[in-house]
Amino acid sequence: MTPAETFSALLRGTAPLTALAPMQDVTTLQFMRVIDRYGGPEIYWTEYFRVHGDSRPEKWILDSITKNPTGKPVVAQLIGNDIPALVRNAKLLQKFPVAAIDLNLGCPAPIVYRKCAGGGLLREPAKIDAILGALRDAVTIPFTVKTRLGFESAAEFDALLALFAKHPIDLLTVHARTVKQMYRPGVRYDLIALAAKQMKCPVLLNGNVFSAAQAKQLLAETQVRGLMIGRGAIRNPWLFDQIRAELRGDKIKLPTGRDVLAYIHELWDNEITPGVKESAQVQRMKKFMNFIGAGIGEKFLHDIRRVATTADFWRVCGEFLDHNEPMELEPAPAADPNLAAIL
Ligand SMILES: Cc1cc2nc3c(=O)[nH]c(=O)nc-3n(C[C@H](O)[C@H](O)[C@H](O)COP(=O)(O)O)c2cc1C
Repeated sequence: MTPAETFSALLRGTAPLTALAPMQDVTTLQFMRVIDRYGGPEIYWTEYFRVHGDSRPEKWILDSITKNPTGKPVVAQLIGNDIPALVRNAKLLQKFPVAAIDLNLGCPAPIVYRKCAGGGLLREPAKIDAILGALRDAVTIPFTVKTRLGFESAAEFDALLALFAKHPIDLLTVHARTVKQMYRPGVRYDLIALAAKQMKCPVLLNGNVFSAAQAKQLLAETQVRGLMIGRGAIRNPWLFDQIRAELRGDKIKLPTGRDVLAYIHELWDNEITPGVKESAQVQRMKKFMNFIGAGIGEKFLHDIRRVATTADFWRVCGEFLDHNEPMELEPAPAADPNLAAIL
């Protein structure tokens, strides 16, 4: 089966699906490899390919498709608003083993939305309509959309759903926040339940899923086809397996401090390029530690954000994680990093 056929078969099935959310500079080939060793989701997403003028798919993102180490389908995400360029890139990407082409309608970074791409497009329904029409015509494999609830207000969601329903898309992923909300509290799972009810295509729920028990409850409450998980999976790579166990009714296995330490070692081994300056390596790891640390505690986050050397990095990790106590890895709300500052 091609990745697109596998993806379509997964969508047609009945078992709840899990997906790793696209995350810029995180969901690389290397990270997918690590996550998959812990069980991983059923579906992966690339970070977005930036599409404009005469752009071509970025090589380092393409690597996660051409050298996909997981054996599972990888969806290629596009961001942009130039219709001929989007169509051209979608056609180019279809020559590679991609499971589907996905359109980003949610990126909240001002540098993106001010150019009327990503989440910025949610202010331009006529433009979305034209893009969806053109991409649907050009894409012969599954075509999917990842959106937020609206730009300014969740009151925009009804009209957006009607717009998405006009086009025969194969899957809609909804991050249950508005663009202006960035990553602040107040996720609206009730609106995702509405989307699951109204849309003919399957719907994935996205936003703040951090535990297996919560995942099970959200699946039951919203009746979505599955869950897309981002930060929760960086923090807890066991989460996808834990969710599957919870849904089967099995006991959840919690990692110990030493298991978490081994995960960080694995990330280090995969993310670090030999020959790169020590400070740059530590900096690269701190990107992950901001998310992982939120499941360990305030003091750990405080200390790890201040390390500058490899030796200090491992000293702090050892201080907090060299033990065999089970770890929930759920975020203490106060410790959740302020993403606006990180992104
Ligand atoms: C570091 C980072 C990078 C992200 N990059 C992308 C991206 O390239 N495309 C996209 O659609 N969403 C991107 N997102 C948003 C996530 O896919 C997801 O919608 C969001 O984090 C909410 O899910 P979560 O609460 O499970 O993390 C990014 C999020 C983070 C934290």
